[in-house]
Amino acid sequence: MTIAAGRKALVTGGASGFGLAIAKALDAAGASIALLDVSDDHLAAAAEELPEAKTVRADVRSPEQVRSAVAEVTAALDGLDTLVMSAGVIHIKPLDDVAEADWDLTLDVNLKGAFLVAQAAAGTLAASGRGRIVTISSDAGRRGFAWLQAYCSSKFGLIGLTESLAVELAESGTTVNCICPVGCPTTAMGQEVLDWKVRRAGVAPEEIMAATARSNPLGRNATEDDIVAAALFFVSDDASFLTGAALDVDGGAHLGFAFPGAS
Ligand SMILES: NC(=O)c1ccc[n+]([C@@H]2O[C@H](COP(=O)([O-])OP(=O)(O)OC[C@H]3O[C@@H](n4cnc5c(N)ncnc54)[C@H](O)[C@@H]3O)[C@@H](O)[C@H]2O)c1
Repeated sequence: MTIAAGRKALVTGGASGFGLAIAKALDAAGASIALLDVSDDHLAAAAEELPEAKTVRADVRSPEQVRSAVAEVTAALDGLDTLVMSAGVIHIKPLDDVAEADWDLTLDVNLKGAFLVAQAAAGTLAASGRGRIVTISSDAGRRGFAWLQAYCSSKFGLIGLTESLAVELAESGTTVNCICPVGCPTTAMGQEVLDWKVRRAGVAPEEIMAATARSNPLGRNATEDDIVAAALFFVSDDASFLTGAALDVDGGAHLGFAFPGAS
């Protein structure tokens, strides 16, 4: 797989989890990296792991902050040809408990935020002649899960945004593809979801992890490396004829498989 040398990449939500793991892999492949994140703490920790990366604090919900961050990054990297959008939030609540603010936060970060960043970066990506956008949806963007009304809606919407941008930006040479990971317990969000399941089920984390591993044919939990591999492929030259794809990185969970003997 060939990652074009000298790629100039902006990763939103880049200071934690999948975003940081993808940024590190792109850095190792020879790309120049910028990390955009709303969390000062995450950015400070990420800067220690990736000292050569440009870091910028911005909230993807704010058009002004996004425009200014993209301009700052484009100046720092002397261009931009790769955009990975990993910023995201989740809440898990029964329908009656979901406040309007919960709904708005989730849709605004996960969906509107991706729209705003894509809109701010599209011109610069086009100017590179080899633009790449990678979005991170979820298995919750493929099918409905109870207590995840806003999260599922945002992640379904993100696949729609990916497809729409793929058609619109094709003419400019930019490809737009999406990764749909199944739950990965090692990121901050993955840990939050695991902790919630542990509290709800009243069992040990190992028991939850064993159950989620059994929910896909390949029989293990997702790792950050699984998602990194998909992102690097979409960014690579080898994926130049691929756009509008949504790739399930889920061990085959979307097949509705249950392990023999699983209840
Ligand atoms: N971990 C999983 O199980 C899993 C599964 C499927 C999809 N995803 C998706 O992967 C993406 C990355 O999640 P992760 O698991 O790495 O979680 P994470 O919490 O480790 O990383 C998310 C990052 O987004 C940042 N962020 C949140 N709101 C922001 C905002 N308004 N503006 C800018 N940055 C903001 C956070 O500060 C954090 O650094 C998310 O879109 C998530 O929905 C995660």
